[in-house]
Amino acid sequence: MEIDGKTRTCGLIGNPVEHTLSPLIHNTLAEMFGHNLVYVPFPVERGRAAEAVAGASALGILGLNVTVPYKSEVIPCLREVDSLAASIGAVNTLVRVSDGYKGYNTDMEGLYRAMTAEGVKLAGEEIILLGAGGASRAVAYLCAVKQAKRVYMLNRTVDKAKLVAEEVNRSVGREVIFPMALAAFDDLPDQKFLAIQGTSVGLYPNGDQAVIEDEAFYRRIHTGFDLIYRPWETRFMKLVKENGGQAYNGLKMLLYQGVIAYELWNGVEVSEKEAQIVYEKLKKAVS
Ligand code: ATR
Repeated sequence: MEIDGKTRTCGLIGNPVEHTLSPLIHNTLAEMFGHNLVYVPFPVERGRAAEAVAGASALGILGLNVTVPYKSEVIPCLREVDSLAASIGAVNTLVRVSDGYKGYNTDMEGLYRAMTAEGVKLAGEEIILLGAGGASRAVAYLCAVKQAKRVYMLNRTVDKAKLVAEEVNRSVGREVIFPMALAAFDDLPDQKFLAIQGTSVGLYPNGDQAVIEDEAFYRRIHTGFDLIYRPWETRFMKLVKENGGQAYNGLKMLLYQGVIAYELWNGVEVSEKEAQIVYEKLKKAVS
């Protein structure tokens, strides 16, 4: 692209940012749409996220993505926060408003769009959610907000799952998250489930691990979503497939969190055909 006096800037703040795939997503979309826009990574030193947001605002930066470790830290610096992001307490996308930014959580909207694209719904469903860390907590909110019937949150440290369940259930005003120990999966109702894998187990370079190994668990899963996309096929996914289920990795979530951010920044709608072109590029980059 040609940079001139009218080029708009978007970017990513985080630490580290060197391995991000977001420039690939946004610069590809800008090229496809013919937008005069460039997306760059901004490494931000610890403790300077507030300065970074204020500086971005002063520089007229159109939009920012926010990654680890600043997803919660930037919230007090924002003019507004979208309701899902406010419930989760984490934002990954800042959209320019007058005199500052509004925060969104397109990670979760991205996961939702990825699931919808595969024909999977959350409303009315009974879901198994593995993990109770930051990622799984956000997924728990997503499931609750999208009207899942029940979410069985299985975690190694059951007390952590209990805390998340109490918090989410209180926030949405109904009993939707049910905490359980990983080892207690046999107590689940006798039916097939949608399962979302939100732990860090199985992440590269530990691709040979899954948080539960017992095949009896996987026979209960009709569809499995892993938030991990490195390796391409996680052990969780392999076990789901070997036991007759469909399995998806987290790359479409990454794709759609970017697509939704791009739509918010530019007021456009990215078609499925356009998203697919970006997806192919992402796939090439991770494999
Ligand atoms: P993130 O923000 O990516 O979710 P996190 O907050 O550190 O990361 O959470 C990691 C999740 O993976 C937790 O659910 C953790 O279980 P505990 O709460 O019991 O620690 C889970 N996890 C990590 N390593 C694990 C392992 N070896 N076996 C089982 N669960 C594990």
